[in-house]
Amino acid sequence: MITSLPSLPIGLRRLRDAAERLTTPLLPDDYLAMINPLWSARELRGRIVSVVPETADSATLTIAPGAGWRFEHRPGQYVGIGAALHGRFRWRSYSLTSVPTARTDTLTITVKAMPEGMLSGHLVRGLEPGTVVRLARPEGDFFLPEPPPPRLLFITTGSGITPVMAILRTMDRRGSMTDVVLVHSVPDPEAMLFRAELHDLRDHHPSFRLHEQFSRRDGRISLTHDLQRLCPDWRERQAWVCGTDSLLEEAGRVWADANRAPSLHREKFASARIGNASAGGSVRFSTSGFAVETDGATTLLEAGERAGILMPFGCRMGICRTCVLPLTAGRVRDLRTGTEHEGGHQMIQTCINAPAGDCVLDI
Ligand SMILES: Cc1cc2nc3c(=O)[nH]c(=O)nc-3n(C[C@H](O)[C@H](O)[C@H](O)COP(=O)(O)OP(=O)(O)OC[C@H]3O[C@@H](n4cnc5c(N)ncnc54)[C@H](O)[C@@H]3O)c2cc1C
Ligand code: FES
Repeated sequence: MITSLPSLPIGLRRLRDAAERLTTPLLPDDYLAMINPLWSARELRGRIVSVVPETADSATLTIAPGAGWRFEHRPGQYVGIGAALHGRFRWRSYSLTSVPTARTDTLTITVKAMPEGMLSGHLVRGLEPGTVVRLARPEGDFFLPEPPPPRLLFITTGSGITPVMAILRTMDRRGSMTDVVLVHSVPDPEAMLFRAELHDLRDHHPSFRLHEQFSRRDGRISLTHDLQRLCPDWRERQAWVCGTDSLLEEAGRVWADANRAPSLHREKFASARIGNASAGGSVRFSTSGFAVETDGATTLLEAGERAGILMPFGCRMGICRTCVLPLTAGRVRDLRTGTEHEGGHQMIQTCINAPAGDCVLDI
């Protein structure tokens, strides 16, 4: 969530306060940014240090965060990245792949370019070192507890390995690798992120077992049929699953059928939207007094940001509920299900609802 930034260092705060007194009508942020584009009293920012290809369609981005960032995330959590594209900032969530430690001044994310995706291809191929991006504070409950459980199972497909990589790297660095099984599926070896590093971990830690499944050669993993063979004691393990919707759904069924649902942790990377949008309308933000006209495919979150409002958000995918705000009047439509919600102080997720006519949000 971006609304409660940690306070700036005292020097920067004094500079901002002085700027506020001296510089109206320009905002203090404008002046801070002239001195250093990473200084902002309003939002977290970071500078791209490098973009290093991992596979043909993915890359690891190293980012140096500016003032206000604390290297205190939990391994497995994700961060919001806002990058300018075609004149607008677009936000997406990415799992942090770096180890949380105060002994660094950078963080990493690893991005797979999605065919026809709006931002991921730009992050993988279009960002120059030095580019300033916006950051949202790390979020998410898909993380490794401290101390790590004695027996762990990770099941991942494709880029779903990223949060697990942060967890494995952390256990490796802290010398706390417990009994770990990783079942990871990708189409073929060339598409596998972090393959050499995972092999190194396997070679260095006798308690870490890796099963690679190459779906073009071996077929897709079926938890119903393969799990018992791949990890016979899976019922006794805490399990973390990150991958396709079908894998997550199947895991939910298998763990529920075995009465083991509480030991399953799942991370979703995407939420489907239905095709046809509503007509849109005018969105009024009652506390700030701003209003913006928007179409029925633009979320209330995007509409608010377009109007310059500091909207709360986390995953931007209808998962974390950080973006929930009271809808005081009007009607909105859930872009995933088509369900319409009416005003009257109902709490709605702004990241997956769009206006279905004029509406008023309390922010
Ligand atoms: C908690 C969390 C953690 C995540 N961590 C990672 C991570 O570590 N690494 C990573 O790579 N991703 C991660 N993601 C996914 C990431 O946030 C983005 O959703 C992803 O990069 C796609 O963004 P995009 O802008 O390219 O695609 P979008 O433009 O948002 O499109 C989303 C999907 O729709 C498809 N699509 C878009 N337009 C069309 C069209 N016209 N026709 C057909 N299909 C279309 C795209 O192919 C894509 O699959 C994570 C997501 C979440 C919620
Ligand atoms: S930002 Fe996560 S549910 Fe809306």
